Amino acid sequence: MSIRKTPIAILISGRGSNMRSLIAACAEPDFPASVELVLSNKEDAGGLDYARSLGLRAEAVPHRAFGKDREAHERAIDARLKEAGIEFICLAGYMRLLTPFLTDAWAGRMINIHPSLLPLFPGTHTHERALEAGVRIHGCTVHHVTAGMDEGPIIAQAAVPVFPKEDTADDLAARVLVQEHVLYPAALKAVLAGTGGCASNEDRLLVV
Ligand code: GRF
Repeated sequence: MSIRKTPIAILISGRGSNMRSLIAACAEPDFPASVELVLSNKEDAGGLDYARSLGLRAEAVPHRAFGKDREAHERAIDARLKEAGIEFICLAGYMRLLTPFLTDAWAGRMINIHPSLLPLFPGTHTHERALEAGVRIHGCTVHHVTAGMDEGPIIAQAAVPVFPKEDTADDLAARVLVQEHVLYPAALKAVLAGTGGCASNEDRLLVV
């Protein structure tokens, strides 16, 4: 018997490597989601071309067209999501701060991946800041999206070592990204199965 696949959208702004890992996971017959829409706020996001090359619906909703009216941009995004029958959103390198319009509309149905062990290093330049802070463990976090930036409840984390004498920020970014690609599909699966949160350690903490 085939499982029901939740129709999801992935929101990107750039190259979309996490998007690729989610697409690959969703292509598995027993994965509980299917990618029905990829949206970007940038027309030249590399991930759009890749998604289109697979025959996926992938569209840009450029924020520039809406000037400073963030909510109007989000209304346009929300309309596309509804029209495509989307039930769940994965932000994957989507570089726009969201307003309460979208976070309230999709509360509990929108998750994000962030390249640090939250609550450490919310925002940008996380790898540089981890090196500056001298932490010996760094990583990535999948969390629910709320109005506060990178503040929503944590679903899953993966940790990597930091080698302070050798690592550059790029080294660290590459090490973390490998784990992001493993963590994001696992966290999505856990949330859709209703076990997102902290039901068991198994899928939720990856230490490499
Ligand atoms: C990732 O590091 C993700 O954690 C952060 O933005 C980056 C996006 O990379 N939110 P990609 O576009 O998925 O390759």
